[in-house]
Amino acid sequence: VFAHVVQGPEDPILGVTVAYNKDQSPNKVNLGVGAYRTEEGKPLVLNVVRKAEQKLVNDMSRVKEYLPIVGLAEFNKLSARLILGADSPPVQENRVTTVQCLSGTGSLRVGGEFLARHYQERTIYIPTPTWGNHTKVFTLAGLSVKNYRYYDPATRGLNFQGLLEDLGSAPAGAVVLLHACAHNPTGVDPTLEQWEQIRQLMRSRALLPFFDSAYQGFASGSLDADAQSVRRFAADGGELLVAQSYAKNMGLYGERVGALSIVLKTSEVATKVESQLKLVIRPMYSNPPIHGASIVATILKDRDLFNEWTIELKAMADRIISMRHQLFDSLRAKGTPGDWSHIIKQIGMFTFTGLNPEQVAFMTKEYHIYMTSDGRISMAGLSSRTVPHLTEAIHAAVTR
Ligand code: LMR
Repeated sequence: VFAHVVQGPEDPILGVTVAYNKDQSPNKVNLGVGAYRTEEGKPLVLNVVRKAEQKLVNDMSRVKEYLPIVGLAEFNKLSARLILGADSPPVQENRVTTVQCLSGTGSLRVGGEFLARHYQERTIYIPTPTWGNHTKVFTLAGLSVKNYRYYDPATRGLNFQGLLEDLGSAPAGAVVLLHACAHNPTGVDPTLEQWEQIRQLMRSRALLPFFDSAYQGFASGSLDADAQSVRRFAADGGELLVAQSYAKNMGLYGERVGALSIVLKTSEVATKVESQLKLVIRPMYSNPPIHGASIVATILKDRDLFNEWTIELKAMADRIISMRHQLFDSLRAKGTPGDWSHIIKQIGMFTFTGLNPEQVAFMTKEYHIYMTSDGRISMAGLSSRTVPHLTEAIHAAVTR
């Protein structure tokens, strides 16, 4: 009865890893998926995560009971504080509802379904380009997805005018997906002044912000600096949604730990919204897993562990920034045609190189360098050892 099922395509991002794993070349480099690697090219488990896990293992009072539908209460509270700020008005006034979800993706999906059920305007505007999964997540959640202009290939920067025009003509009340920091895939963020203009425009047109915060601390190395966009909206008294992921900033990729917070006008509304989020979650996966959230809560609530985390996080962010400089210097030294300054201007895990799909395919075939076909490279997958190889490959691709 399933003979008619056709082979589905690989995921545009995770499929790159599948292809990489099949490659036998000793020179292969995976710059596809946004996953941090050390200078030695190895995945990294943070020391602070190991310590937290040790604490959890040693605590014999811990059991493996089901969590509540909304997840670990302590984790939820600490997550809202981390992104919104402990002194932010919604936190102080108890008008945020937070639910633990399956990392950033799960948080976006639960938020999307909640909006599809309870919000009057079912259209969500997402930037062009954006993370490849956004369209699928929101479409399957029951929202209608439209785009707003974001990136300008000519300047390799923000198309701010286009963004303002598109959001200015979006129907009142529409939802707008915003990358909190380190826009994926472009690495191009609005300045704080531009965020302020975006906020004013959105609030004046009653557009509802839905932030995707996958890189808090990863862009600049500072948890507070990378939350400024969200906190501005949180401070103005209006509603917002924010999806948080701990995949990158705590290196908890496979633990699938994240949170959805919804900032509301009153604590009464927050309680009712939480009751509806439970009705979204229960038939989907019943309740979330306990381990990753326990690690996060252990770190966030302990001052020493928290400080240790910020140091390790900054070290990861700094290594990525140093990779940007090394690649830029290397291309310049080689005399590779083109202005590569965007490599050091863009921020976060990714560089949007401007290489086209043919050039990417050439680099994969001839140099065993794996990256997404849109020309995005994960700087976190690069090391001093692999910079020369990547430089050779880019040089060959642009001078063919
Ligand atoms: C990425 O964009 O590479 C990451 O967010 C990982 C993913 O799930 O796509």
